[in-house]
Amino acid sequence: MRKKIVAGNWKMNLKLEEGMQLSSEIVEFVKNNHLETLAGKPGVVMFTPFVHLTSVADFTAGIKGVEVGAQNCYTEEKGAFTGEVSAEMIESTGATHVLVGHSERRSFFGETDEVLAKKTEIALKHALTPVFCCGEVLDERNAEKHFEVVKKQLHKGLFWLSEEEFSKVVIAYEPVWAIGTGVTASPAQAQEMHAFIRQIIREKYNDKTADDTTILYGGSCNAKNAAELFANEDVDGGLIGGASLKAEDFCTIIKSF
Ligand code: PGA
Repeated sequence: MRKKIVAGNWKMNLKLEEGMQLSSEIVEFVKNNHLETLAGKPGVVMFTPFVHLTSVADFTAGIKGVEVGAQNCYTEEKGAFTGEVSAEMIESTGATHVLVGHSERRSFFGETDEVLAKKTEIALKHALTPVFCCGEVLDERNAEKHFEVVKKQLHKGLFWLSEEEFSKVVIAYEPVWAIGTGVTASPAQAQEMHAFIRQIIREKYNDKTADDTTILYGGSCNAKNAAELFANEDVDGGLIGGASLKAEDFCTIIKSF
């Protein structure tokens, strides 16, 4: 069965003490609402800046239903790569997830599909769940090329994985025109793309793999629109940026399932 997930992408925000405060409010909420034991409730993942990983992972260790992830990792195991952080280091902090191919990494840091395939591989090698991001820019949507673009990203980034490896990956569909803009994909647009993604997984792998893959929506998902996005059959949760920085908003989103 596929898992529901509400994930917060803090991006380059929050000092350590602010991040700890936010984490503690989220943990409190999860505990008070018994989310860790209620069937059908989503798991929570917080994608923190690298420097907060150890502290947040220590703080949430042993709390069911709350996990921690990094926003990036490097393609290589170790060595003379000043400033980079390896998958093995991330794993050693207690984090369990890593974002791969967020559109900000693709556009600001020039990460190509080939680089992202390597990052996925090394993340899996170190038992991290890659949350692989895909999505089209506005011009591509206007030119009705969005399906083609997403298909290519998935083929190059992920579809070379074995069925067993692929089953460990989470996908996040994030139309770039919706990220941080306040413009959200309509529930129909999100469902249409998620169904398409599930269909191409079905064609590449099989029914079980397609049905078990968690596909998150990201892009201006907030406390007001989460419920109608999550109500769609193929939307298994969200990757939340701006609205994950305030405990109240993020917890409302968690409650939207
Ligand atoms: P946003 O960001 O919710 O602020 O649009 C989502 C993301 O970039 O993951």
